[in-house]
Amino acid sequence: MNKAKVISVTVAICAILLGAGCMDKDASQSRGRTAHSPVAVKYLRCEYRVDPLGIDVTQPRLSWVLDSRRRAQKQSACQILVASSEQNLTRDIGDLWDSGKISSSQTNQVVYEGATLKSRMRCYWKLRVWDQADRSSAWSEPAMWTVGLLDSKDWQAKWIGYDAEPPESYTRGKPADAKLILPPPPYLRKTFVANKPVRRATVYASALGLYELHINGKRVGKDYFTPGWTDYAKRVYYQTYDVTSLLTKSGNAIGAILADGWYAGYLGFGKKREHYGDKPRLCVQLEIEYADGTRETIATDSSWKAAYGPILEADFLMGETYDAPRQTPDWCAYWLNDSDWQPVAVVDGIEGQLQAYPGVTVQKMLQIEPKNVTEPKPGAYVFDMGQNFAGWVRLKVRGQTGTKVVQRFAEMLSPDGTIYTENLREARCTDTYILRGSGEEIWEPRFTYHGFRYVELTGYPGTPGLDAITGVVVHSNTPPAGAFECSSPMVNQLYRNIVWSQRGNFIEIPTDCPQRDERLGWTGDAQIFIRTATYNMDVAAFFTKWLVDLEDAQTKEGAFPDVAPHKVAMGSGVAAWGDAGTICPWTIYQVYGDKRVLERHYESMKKWIAYLQSHSKDLLRPAQGYGDWVSIASDTPKDVIATAYFAYSTNIVAKAAAVLGKDEEAEKYRALFEQIKEAFNKAYVSEDVRIKGETQTCYLLALYFDLLPEDQRARAAQRLVEAVREKDWHLSTGFVGLSYLLPSLAQTGHLDVAYRLLLNDTFPSWGYSIKNGATTIWERWDGWTQDKGFQTKDMNSFNHYAFGSVGRWLFNTVAGIDTDGPGYRRIVIRPRPGGITSAKASYDSINGKIVSDWRLSGSAFALNVTIPVNTAATVYIPCGGAESVTESGRPAGNAEGVRFLRVEGNEAVFAVASGDYAFASRMP
Ligand code: BGC
Repeated sequence: MNKAKVISVTVAICAILLGAGCMDKDASQSRGRTAHSPVAVKYLRCEYRVDPLGIDVTQPRLSWVLDSRRRAQKQSACQILVASSEQNLTRDIGDLWDSGKISSSQTNQVVYEGATLKSRMRCYWKLRVWDQADRSSAWSEPAMWTVGLLDSKDWQAKWIGYDAEPPESYTRGKPADAKLILPPPPYLRKTFVANKPVRRATVYASALGLYELHINGKRVGKDYFTPGWTDYAKRVYYQTYDVTSLLTKSGNAIGAILADGWYAGYLGFGKKREHYGDKPRLCVQLEIEYADGTRETIATDSSWKAAYGPILEADFLMGETYDAPRQTPDWCAYWLNDSDWQPVAVVDGIEGQLQAYPGVTVQKMLQIEPKNVTEPKPGAYVFDMGQNFAGWVRLKVRGQTGTKVVQRFAEMLSPDGTIYTENLREARCTDTYILRGSGEEIWEPRFTYHGFRYVELTGYPGTPGLDAITGVVVHSNTPPAGAFECSSPMVNQLYRNIVWSQRGNFIEIPTDCPQRDERLGWTGDAQIFIRTATYNMDVAAFFTKWLVDLEDAQTKEGAFPDVAPHKVAMGSGVAAWGDAGTICPWTIYQVYGDKRVLERHYESMKKWIAYLQSHSKDLLRPAQGYGDWVSIASDTPKDVIATAYFAYSTNIVAKAAAVLGKDEEAEKYRALFEQIKEAFNKAYVSEDVRIKGETQTCYLLALYFDLLPEDQRARAAQRLVEAVREKDWHLSTGFVGLSYLLPSLAQTGHLDVAYRLLLNDTFPSWGYSIKNGATTIWERWDGWTQDKGFQTKDMNSFNHYAFGSVGRWLFNTVAGIDTDGPGYRRIVIRPRPGGITSAKASYDSINGKIVSDWRLSGSAFALNVTIPVNTAATVYIPCGGAESVTESGRPAGNAEGVRFLRVEGNEAVFAVASGDYAFASRMP
């Protein structure tokens, strides 16, 4: 028998023995009981992520999802085992934590309560649950997390860089734009010998700037733009990778390319760079554990060497240039003769705190093939990718050494078919590849991205075929959560456009747009869109990270900023923008049941209210700020907006206080909310319920934020409808009002008007942009119109998610899936047919998949519903009478898992337990 066979046979025997051991234990434990639970435990996550490495949360929260085909299944208890080794876990030994059988129905945010976690610990875990009949499930598949470096003393690594002036030759081959400062990113490397068998190698890496790490010529990990964007003066994140398989038993090389990124490169408008610093730095610590138990650490220090390489320039806004003839493929090989590499600059420490990355990194998520190529000018080939997105292209080319292929990117075309780049403002968005000249060459950039649908290639040798480029879509790796489809093709395109704008703008932080010289974490946009974002993707970890950026950017006085991370020279304290500081944590709590996020940010939420209060007169806020940004021929008074948001945020803080058990504070903020309401009504609402400004947005804010006396709501809703009719049944809101438009109409009995606006395709409407080819959400209703062409080049993005805030309404009203209280433990299914004949949505909530799938044929209404295990739903069935409602062909009230509750208007209401159901009814 050869060695490999011996190993596999041994493994198999062990598995059988261990399995048998396991079965014995299970059998003995369930002796006397009838059967295993039909519930399976799946999708184990720690701090929202699957098997995260290097976390620094010392009491991490564990989550799982339960699955069963049977109806009415619940978790009554669970047992979690956390072990320090895979072996222990396989033997059911929870040496770090054996929770025992805990009576609990909680399936997420379960706080680890085992042994104190220490730096570098490996934690393997699994669990089983007991169902409502006290039958235990099988053990889940194992999962894991590892602990990062918790103490600053764990770090031996120094911060290194390369500050030498690049040689003269580095200006050669660059695109001619003398005014831009685009230094080449240095390459840094070190060799070492590991001549004993390695049990495990772990690398911790960070940078001021961006790093791309390599070991023995292989890229480490799949992440881009690491270590991410923060206020680097306050905190800098590191990532952790298991690199055991990259080491060789002998000579090794570790290296990194270090680019300017957000830290030192161009950022935002005004052609300014070096917002945080001018000298990028790298910090890497590779820890090797040998099989014999000894350890060795290879860290960035003065023994590393540096050189400039083939990347002539690399900048987020300006693009990247690669000079392939300069390429040294072996730059990260042990055997490279690096005698001409130079010493590195070394600093001991940095200002900001070094912490484990809490979010989800940017990765390559999709590929797109071009649909079409034209040549509107000789030698300028324009590729249509068929989709506006953020990322770059992979170039495939053959040609002579030194041939320069220039890629330029645009969202739109000019009437002559050339690319329209004026709306990119000062973002050059140009990538250049200079050919090596040997065979097929494939290249893609590393430290830049663009927002585009069209790519212009010039300098391409010969005529490029469609396969000359492939689109690479990048965004933060937020797991997909939702799907939506209905009988209107236009609405389906709208939904796709919303998701694409989310992809294009969830790049490390929620940005306003991915194309022009902006790409900032505009807080107003984020708060308007966050609820929609949660339906489309699992954004829990993404916002956990960004909310820290937001808090870091809060002023001492308590004002939340316009953009986070804070970028020098942006303002703060603006209504609807700063309110992201209360709305976003509250939304994350609502959607994921995450109390910790509220706890973490509660003090800063309170500071925001204090700031607003001290900057208002008689509880009325001044008429300042951005107003109802990009509204269309309709100006909502800024004091009305600002005071309304002051009330809204105060109400949120009151609710947050109550959730956190701070009853007195809850009372205090509730009282303040009432006072602000009173001031609002006195100052802005007339006796016949006209709100100052009388725009759609005025009424929307008052209705949605619950600012009016109960008996005035119907009247205000009527005024809202009048304001819509005045615009010939069109919307006129900007970012702010739009988010509340369809929800408020539907809630106040004007579902027909809501559907009318949704389905409009005349200007201004979502449909108008779609009729004119939109594949993402536009920043402005009139970004392009048939009679005027493009709006001002100064501010006209075609990929801004804010007007996509209608996405949540598609889910929670058209399909009718919503949470009832925090974290989808209780669910509402309330589809609202109207204007369309069918809709189907699914949503992977923190408790599992929810489906609402309805169809109307004549007066026959059918609704298929899926409710996850361990949750319960209230299901509203539109019908002429409760007796017409059936489930799987039988009277619904008698069906397993279904209980009739009441009739509300034209809906029969049922309490429904977990499982799949097929309801049917006759519409009135
Ligand atoms: C951004 C917006 C942002 C706004 C603030 C714009 O330049 O693109 O999305 O919210 O400024 O007024």
